[in-house]
Amino acid sequence: MAFEDIFATYTPSPRQEAFHADPRPRRWYCAGYGSGKTTASVWEAFCNAIIHHPGYTGIVCAPTFPLLWQGWVAEWKRQIPSACYRIREGSDARIWVYGPGGQVSEILLRSTLSAASLEAVNAAWAVFDEATRERDPEPYRVLLGRLRRGNPGHQRGLVLTGPPMTRRHWTATEFGAGTDATHEGDAMAWHDALQAVIRARTRDNPHLPESYEREIRARPGATKAWCAQWLDAMFGSIEGQVYEAFSRDVHVLPHASLVGRVWRSVICPVDWGWSNPGAMLVLCEDGHGDLYVTHEEYHRGKTVTDTPDGWVPIGVRLVKEHRVKSFHCDPSSPGHMETLARGLRVAKVSRLVLPADNDTGEGIRRVSARLEWAAAREDPLVIGRPALYVSDRCHNTIAEFEGYARRRERDGAISEAPEKRNDHAMDALRYGAMAFAA
Ligand SMILES: Nc1ncnc2c1ncn2[C@@H]1O[C@H](COP(=O)(O)OP(=O)(O)OP(=O)(O)O)[C@@H](O)[C@H]1O
Ligand SMILES: [Mg+2]
Repeated sequence: MAFEDIFATYTPSPRQEAFHADPRPRRWYCAGYGSGKTTASVWEAFCNAIIHHPGYTGIVCAPTFPLLWQGWVAEWKRQIPSACYRIREGSDARIWVYGPGGQVSEILLRSTLSAASLEAVNAAWAVFDEATRERDPEPYRVLLGRLRRGNPGHQRGLVLTGPPMTRRHWTATEFGAGTDATHEGDAMAWHDALQAVIRARTRDNPHLPESYEREIRARPGATKAWCAQWLDAMFGSIEGQVYEAFSRDVHVLPHASLVGRVWRSVICPVDWGWSNPGAMLVLCEDGHGDLYVTHEEYHRGKTVTDTPDGWVPIGVRLVKEHRVKSFHCDPSSPGHMETLARGLRVAKVSRLVLPADNDTGEGIRRVSARLEWAAAREDPLVIGRPALYVSDRCHNTIAEFEGYARRRERDGAISEAPEKRNDHAMDALRYGAMAFAA
């Protein structure tokens, strides 16, 4: 069989195609059960061996030998014609791939349990199937360190597969858990200069039997949260997350969709901070009573002064650019409120500067209710109550929604009170929510 014909046997799904086409050297196919992770990584390996790095060495790894053999190698055998390769099993397992130019590429098959056995290897590329099952990043680091010799002028790349874990897992720390200040993209794929994440849901694999997903969803343990993570490839919530209802897919809107809208009311809730970040949000209410965080100012080390690098000029700018009509501030610092009010007067944009209602429980309840209403509204039969959305430019607010957690007591139980971290934009948001009717 000619090599063109072999490649022609594979028609990637649109998400697999997006994964193969991404130009970054480290790519994570962050995808649900049965979404074609292993298949895509088999073809990555085959292309590397035949096209990008013929005659060089590659590494294929999985966290355990059963995953490697019953998952990856089984799929390799299903996809790649046996005339193209020879395989050796055992502790020094390898595949030799015979390329069209007569070169022989070698693929080392390893479980990360035996990653130490990679010590002297100079590889051109690596594939790490089910990498997210690893609890720590050490095997990934070892693999990166092995990428030392390949076809000159060709990228020495590493691809990972596996469903998303929580936002505190090493994969999320290394690759980002969505678009933010350093990762561009959208909800289905994001990247920085070196690394890219391509998400796929189980239903994005058109080759699965029609009943596959339905049967998994019908299983007793398949809670909503479980399906969201393992089938829809959404990051799992951290333990004790305060705003469990928050979802980028529901609550984060493209900034362009908010520009030029007419608002019923625009306010600016404020949480002061100096060693911790302080936050000023622009919170807009539309004609239905829905709230939108359209802009955030989030800074560390800024004093509450009317100096060029203080908070007061920022307040003045927000009034002018966003038509903020009042400020709702952390009530524990009356001096800061006076400074802001005076600064606004001096700049000839006097506004109300009010102490916010700092009832934490009620504030969290109101924000949660608005998040839940936004989610419920996806169902057209639900008649909505006011919801809450965030612009995709507000990276810190989004990150806090996802990281804001309840405190753990000494006995390990999770308390009602939130931790005093990841809470600056969240405190401001509570103040804002308390300024509107529940
Ligand atoms: N592009 C494709 N063309 C044809 N069949 C495909 C394609 N991609 C995946 N498949 C098939 O879909 C099924 C699931 O794919 P695969 O095992 O690669 O998914 P996975 O995400 O690794 O699943 P798991 O979560 O079970 O590890 C397999 O039977 C595979 O052969
Ligand atoms: Mg698999």
